[in-house]
Amino acid sequence: MTLKVVILAAGKGTRMRSDTPKVLQTIGPCSLLEHVIRVSRQLGDEPAIVVYGHGGEQVTEALAHLPVQWVLQQQQLGTGHAVQQALPHLDDADRVLVLYGDVPLVTADTLQAVIDADGLGLLTVLLDDPDGYGRIVRQDGQVQRIVEHKDADDAERGIKEINTGILAASGGHLRDWLGRLNSDNAQGEFYLTDIIAMAVADGVTVTGVTAANPTEVQGINDRQQQAELERAYQLREARRLMAEGVCLRDPARFDLRGELQCGRDVTIDINVIIEGRVELGDRVSIGPNVLLKDVTIGNDVTIHANSVLEQSRLGSEAVVGPFARLRPDTVLADKVKVGNFVEIKKSTIGTGSKVNHLSYIGDTRMGAAVNIGAGTITCNYDGANKHLTVIGDNVFVGSDSQLIAPVTIETGATIGAGSTITRNADAGKLTLSRSKQVTTTAWTRPVKKK
Ligand code: UD1
Ligand code: CA
Repeated sequence: MTLKVVILAAGKGTRMRSDTPKVLQTIGPCSLLEHVIRVSRQLGDEPAIVVYGHGGEQVTEALAHLPVQWVLQQQQLGTGHAVQQALPHLDDADRVLVLYGDVPLVTADTLQAVIDADGLGLLTVLLDDPDGYGRIVRQDGQVQRIVEHKDADDAERGIKEINTGILAASGGHLRDWLGRLNSDNAQGEFYLTDIIAMAVADGVTVTGVTAANPTEVQGINDRQQQAELERAYQLREARRLMAEGVCLRDPARFDLRGELQCGRDVTIDINVIIEGRVELGDRVSIGPNVLLKDVTIGNDVTIHANSVLEQSRLGSEAVVGPFARLRPDTVLADKVKVGNFVEIKKSTIGTGSKVNHLSYIGDTRMGAAVNIGAGTITCNYDGANKHLTVIGDNVFVGSDSQLIAPVTIETGATIGAGSTITRNADAGKLTLSRSKQVTTTAWTRPVKKK
């Protein structure tokens, strides 16, 4: 038996009030549709069959990085009609699971229970407020049919067990039942839900599987539901990380928008945002309001509050921030210190070197045990091209200096504070460029006119 997953994603999503198709709206790290495709890949190897319509190429292009069998539904004539579009890709012997591109948080465990169910597996859930949903009509405990809200009478509207839409059946049965659908109902649509009554009539067992929690089967129709599921997703990921030993100071104020790998005894303070691929070593401490995007951080590193790190690699025992910015292609060796209001871009900083206050370091190769004084900047850009600054080991750069690249500060050199360095500075020597200090007696401070 081959499992085939069909994902319905052709709907418009008018209530999102967005130019982006609904299934491309985001929860955590990726689009709603990508969440569903990811869970389907935990279940089997066949590429998911995605029925798309609204948003057209925008949808297929956004997910071009995933193995997907795309099927166009030209007109949205109902959920039954949508699954019909996938029939050419289904064999009679396949087990077919139908999912929805706007139901992003369903888990592989729940879906496996639907796949494994006898006959037609149907995922239901109990809701206090079942308004708007298809109701599960049972007789002596056995599922008989589904009645859509708009077609239901008062007694049926009182039923609190609703259809999540998710179901599994054989390809052969689907082909037979879908071929017999009509649109004779309140909405004039081809309802997928009508196949339940057909299964019962054909003597095929309908097995209801009840989802343990409504969030898992919740669809997204508006921004409110999107925000609710974003929080649900974040809490789920936060709990997973805490179970792995990560200390989250407040799991309600943590946002995982990528992938996070942590060593032991990692502490993450509030309002930290993780994007892309982030790896943290043992005993790393991330302060509040920090953004980490595509960074690898060694052991015993501290990132203080309000720092932004992107595409950077940090050795062990480095200390960064508060208010530091590491831009792409920054590499900090072990024990490096980057302090407040320091920006570093495309630079390598050697072991134990310090850039502690108010600096810009760009396109620089810096050795070990260097001290960069407050306010020092590398002038790496001449208006047309970027140039390299090379700084040897044990260099001391006095505060408020400008190093005009291309330039080399040789090993052990000292730069006097306030210097503008345009030529190479010799090893072990003091270099400075500064006008002489003068005191004049011929000047008095102006006073305000009365
Ligand atoms: C459907 C179910 C209802 C269930 C509810 C759960 C039917 C007839 N009704 O109702 O029993 O309680 O979901 O949310 O199935 N879609 C397409 N092509 C179409 C129509 C829909 O791809 O032609 C997709 C939509 O993008 C959407 C999903 O199918 O993601 C559900 O369609 P929608 O029209 O919202 O169904 P509901 O009325 O919510
Ligand atoms: Ca819906």
